[in-house]
Amino acid sequence: MDNVRMIQWFPGHMSKTRRMIKSNLSSVDAIVEILDARIPMSSQNPEMEGLIGDKPRMLLLNKKDMADDRMTTKWIDYFKSRDILSIPLDCKTGRGVKAFLPTIKNQLLKDLVQSRNDKGMVGRPIRVMIVGIPNVGKSSFINRMANSKRTKVEDRPGVTRLKQWVSLGESVEMLDMPGVLWPKFEDQDIAHNLAYTGAIKDDVIDIEAVSMRLLKSLSKSYPESLIERYKIEINDGDDGKVLLEKVGRKRGMLLPGGVVNTERASATVLDEFRSAKLGRITLELPPDGESDGNK
Ligand code: G4P
Repeated sequence: MDNVRMIQWFPGHMSKTRRMIKSNLSSVDAIVEILDARIPMSSQNPEMEGLIGDKPRMLLLNKKDMADDRMTTKWIDYFKSRDILSIPLDCKTGRGVKAFLPTIKNQLLKDLVQSRNDKGMVGRPIRVMIVGIPNVGKSSFINRMANSKRTKVEDRPGVTRLKQWVSLGESVEMLDMPGVLWPKFEDQDIAHNLAYTGAIKDDVIDIEAVSMRLLKSLSKSYPESLIERYKIEINDGDDGKVLLEKVGRKRGMLLPGGVVNTERASATVLDEFRSAKLGRITLELPPDGESDGNK
């Protein structure tokens, strides 16, 4: 199968979240959307701009430690060119996190803070809503900011995760919203990007098809990463299947009869991509960037 299997993404849950975002908009001053720096476009909720209207919004490009720095800079510039504030972060180590509060207070909500100060409304907290797809790092971010470990409730259908307010001190409060994916993916590149990075869980995708497509894409955009990691040769006409077999053979993943165990090889490729063992990779360029394949 060449495509990520299409499933209906718990539409009930999705519309509930959409309703929650809408009904809580009036109680927040801004929206903070956490994106995956490796896929800043694919990890955005395409409905967000329409949902939030003219509420101030900023983007956090999380997992910057796994993304290609050069590309992250291009993305930040791109968002800036669209008048959208964005900052790169690594919530695993906390790098970049300290820029968050000053950016909210001194840039995104500068006028609001000023006008509240002018009116003597000292002590009224700034309230922000945190949104982002599953696995993007919402809990990690909030735990870092709140400086306390909270129990993580899984983002999956059937698991109710209630919205919650988290106080950050410094008179900022955050409303944590459940992470959701949108109900269907019309764009196969987006669906695949979400599968590569693990936002879509492996039990609903064909991991062999997905890893073959990832290998094919990386053979164009980051061939040196594959060559270095797997010690394989890449030829012009190699498709994903050929590349996967090369990887499996190099790793000695063979079935009786010398056939490559492509299932094992697929799991290895996805696992190594997700843990950045293939290096720091960004899978998509900003729309206006010069394009050379996927990079
Ligand atoms: P969520 O609430 O949005 O669903 O995401 P969560 O914070 O649970 O993060 C999902 C996974 O991503 C976690 O890994 C987390 O450690 C990792 N992560 C979050 N931010 C970053 C980052 O900036 N860089 C890197 N490299 N990883 C990040 P996990 O394997 O599920 O758990 P664990 O490794 O923390 O045990």
